[in-house]
Amino acid sequence: MKPKKILVIANWKMTPNTLVEAKAKMAVIKRGVDKLKMTETIICPPFPFIATLSQMAGGPKGKIKIGAQDISKFESGAHTGEISAVMLKSAGVSHIIVGHSERRAIGEDTSLIAQKLQKVLAAGMIGIVCVGEAERDNDAEYLTVIKNQLKEVLIYTSRQQFANLVIAYEPLWAVNNSQNIAITAHEIHQIVILIRKYLKDNWGESIASIVKIVYGGSVTPDNAQDLVHNGDVDGLLVGRAGWQPEGLKSICQSLNIEKKKPKIKLKKKK
Ligand code: PGA
Repeated sequence: MKPKKILVIANWKMTPNTLVEAKAKMAVIKRGVDKLKMTETIICPPFPFIATLSQMAGGPKGKIKIGAQDISKFESGAHTGEISAVMLKSAGVSHIIVGHSERRAIGEDTSLIAQKLQKVLAAGMIGIVCVGEAERDNDAEYLTVIKNQLKEVLIYTSRQQFANLVIAYEPLWAVNNSQNIAITAHEIHQIVILIRKYLKDNWGESIASIVKIVYGGSVTPDNAQDLVHNGDVDGLLVGRAGWQPEGLKSICQSLNIEKKKPKIKLKKKK
């Protein structure tokens, strides 16, 4: 069996300011990741830069894939300011992030996120749905928070659509953290087990094993390898560290090796 490529999804958020800068960054990233065989790089730029960067990347068949940071829950028509999944697809987008915590912070709830995810998957695109707790408590209530988010956002997902699903575990306290405090790989591994068990209990073993799970929150070139290998994730969702091409290149290069089994053994519950 061919080893799975590790996903490196770069969320550029509301940067850079101009198309000229975006093109310059893309050119450097392209050169840096062109020869990497074990990673798949997905750049999610702001909407106005998507079409140009997608052309630079060589379209959906290119080595670098282009993602979007959000979409509309509507398909088309009288919805001023909205952008549909199909429009993004026609501009060369293959992946779409939904439910990012920065969008939840401005009012998106899980019901809206579930509808958006459905539009992405119905358009035959890859949906990257973000889940994660705001804080950790000693009674492990955060595990219930994550399970409830999964239940609500996956409500419309059909069995066939799981093959196009990426779950991004992004604990809010680690996202955009000014001290770059990422979670430990061991903590990620526990959540990966929780998510896979949740999928298995609800949809069975085969679906639980095909869904990709990535981690996001204060990823840097220094912690990327440890988080992926010991956290047992299929990739990373990178914010600030991916805004500079050098940072993104270093992360991709550090992950360009076959994925190992996590070093940390989790104790089985008796
Ligand atoms: P960060 O952001 O890497 O800057 O913490 C991650 C994200 O928002 O997905």
